[in-house]
This record gives sequence, structure tokens and C-alpha cells, in this order.
Amino acid sequence: MKRMPQPIPYQGSKRNIAAQILSLFPNDVYKLIEPFAGSAAVSIRAAYVGKAEYFHLNDLNHPLIHLLESIINTPEQIASEYEHLWNSQLGRERECYDEVRAEFNTRGRPALFLYLLARCVKASVRYNLNGEFNQGPDNRRKGRHPDSMRAEILAVSQLLKGKTILTSVDFRQSIDNLNPLRDLVYLDPPYQGTSGRRDSRYCGGIDFTSLVEFLSELNAKKAMYILSYDGRKGAKVYGEKLPKDLGLIHLEIDAGRSTQSTLLGKAEVTYESLYLSSELYKRLDFDPRELARFSDWNTSPMQLELALL
Ligand SMILES: C[S@@+](CC[C@H](N)C(=O)[O-])C[C@H]1O[C@@H](n2cnc3c(N)ncnc32)[C@H](O)[C@@H]1O
Repeated sequence: MKRMPQPIPYQGSKRNIAAQILSLFPNDVYKLIEPFAGSAAVSIRAAYVGKAEYFHLNDLNHPLIHLLESIINTPEQIASEYEHLWNSQLGRERECYDEVRAEFNTRGRPALFLYLLARCVKASVRYNLNGEFNQGPDNRRKGRHPDSMRAEILAVSQLLKGKTILTSVDFRQSIDNLNPLRDLVYLDPPYQGTSGRRDSRYCGGIDFTSLVEFLSELNAKKAMYILSYDGRKGAKVYGEKLPKDLGLIHLEIDAGRSTQSTLLGKAEVTYESLYLSSELYKRLDFDPRELARFSDWNTSPMQLELALL
């Protein structure tokens, strides 16, 4: 497959900026750990371009991890189950979506979740107070055709099978096996402002203090990490400022129009922030500020802010 595969549609996916994120990896990363893996866009791309040898995908959303596990380890089975669901909806798409959603909320089978993600509004998960999936369908779409879904699933399985650990725990428990000398952690927590302690957009949620404590813990371990944290739409900045004493390098990427602003019918450009740990900065054999010169990196020198020096 020439294009990077991505069978799981997921709002908040870092697929569009995965190449820029990977350009900040040193060449000798052994294991990539994603405490907030979501659709695993960064790990899939890292495997695709050979930027890490092993992967640890963690997300508090258990059905999502179960889905990733099925895609990676039993690809033919989940592709066939998806195909069956997709074909059985034809001519009664709306009723089928409601039935699948009800069944998913009781039985939680991965293929049901994949079908819901492929058909729901803007691929954005929503949960009610009981933790049940309650997002509605996008009635204009039938969801990805089973042939192309199968191709994406098989390609992801080929990239990650036999090389990936999957867990579904709170992010603070996801780095127990970190080897700071050779592993890299990519953190993509739910944005502040879109999440509080309870977040209807994702499963779970985090607060600012526990994130900062976690980053301090990673610093104490001398870990290499990249954090996607706040962002900016035009002049409006999302997220509380991270403390300077974490010693992070701050870079911004022009990520174009966000799915969220598209959802709200706005056309603002979104800038995604990336923060590099000082340990990663030391281990790179180039100055990340120089990336602004490369064509695939949209950050202009004016948008770079260096918190470390
Ligand atoms: C912004 S999304 C990650 C998107 C991902 N980078 C991708 O490319 O698809 C944040 C993820 O954090 C997960 N999450 C929320 N609270 C968490 C927690 N306390 N521990 C671990 N994961 C959590 C959510 O389920 C969600 O999938």
C-alpha cells in the first residue's frame, strides 16, 4: 500500500501532522509508547516509515483498544464482520445504525465499534453519563466500503503484528516498561477546554495537574517525549500554559482547518503545538527550530517559541 493505512476514523486523529511529529524522532527509537493512542495514527506512520521497532498502544477507551487489537491480530475476522454489517445495512441504513449502536452498548464487539466510527457524525465519539456511545449517524454516508476497509485493516496488521503491546489503563500507568535510553513517548491527551474530569468527546479525561505531574515524572526518568498539548485557532489559544520549569521546547505546526472548526462551520486555521522534552532535544542531531526551513514542515520561524534557552 503506497498511502499510509488508517482503518479507524477518529476525530482528533494526528494523521495529518504525523509526518511532522515523526520528523522530531531520533533515528534509533526502539519502542514508541502512546499513552493516549486513539486511532494510533502516529504509531502506524512510525511503523510505515520505519521510525520505531516496537510499539505500546494504550488508551483508557477499552473498546478502542479492543478494536486496535482485533485489527492488528485478527485482521481477516474483523474485516469480514465489518463487511457483513456494511452489506446488511443496505436499504435500511438508519435502522441498522441504531441497532448496531444498541448492540455495541450491551456487547461491545470491535466490529460494531468500527461500523459506528465509520458511520457516525464526523467520526467523533460521544458518550452519555452512563458511558454509553450516543453519537448519531451521518445519514449521507454509508461508511467506508468493505473492500477498502479490508485493505486498510490488512495493511495495519502487517505493520504492527508481533511488534505491539496493547493496554487500556490510565495514562499514568502506561509507562511502567519505559526504557529511557531507547524508547520515546508520544503524548496526545484530550485538549483542555474539550475535556474536564469527565469528557463526553472521549472516554475518560485528564486534569492539568496530573498531566504536569506526569511530565515531571518523565523528566525525572530522563525520558524522550513529544507532547501534543494546546493549540491555537487564529489568536485564540486553548489550554493552560505549561510550567517553564518543565524545560520543554515549544513548536507550532500550521495544521490547516481543524475537523472541529469544520464541524462548527468555521474556516479558521489551527496551529497545533508540540512540546519536546529537553532529553529528546539533547538527543537530536539537529536543532528542531531548523525544521521551519523544510517544505513539509509548515511552521514559519516567526511561530517558533523556545522555552528552554
Ligand atoms: C486526542 S485523542 C488521541 C488521538 C490520537 N493521537 C490519534 O491520532 O488518533 C486522546 C485520547 O485519550 C484517551 N484518554 C482520555 N483520558 C485518558 C486517560 N486518563 N488515560 C489514557 N487515555 C485517555 C481518549 O480515549 C482519546 O482516545
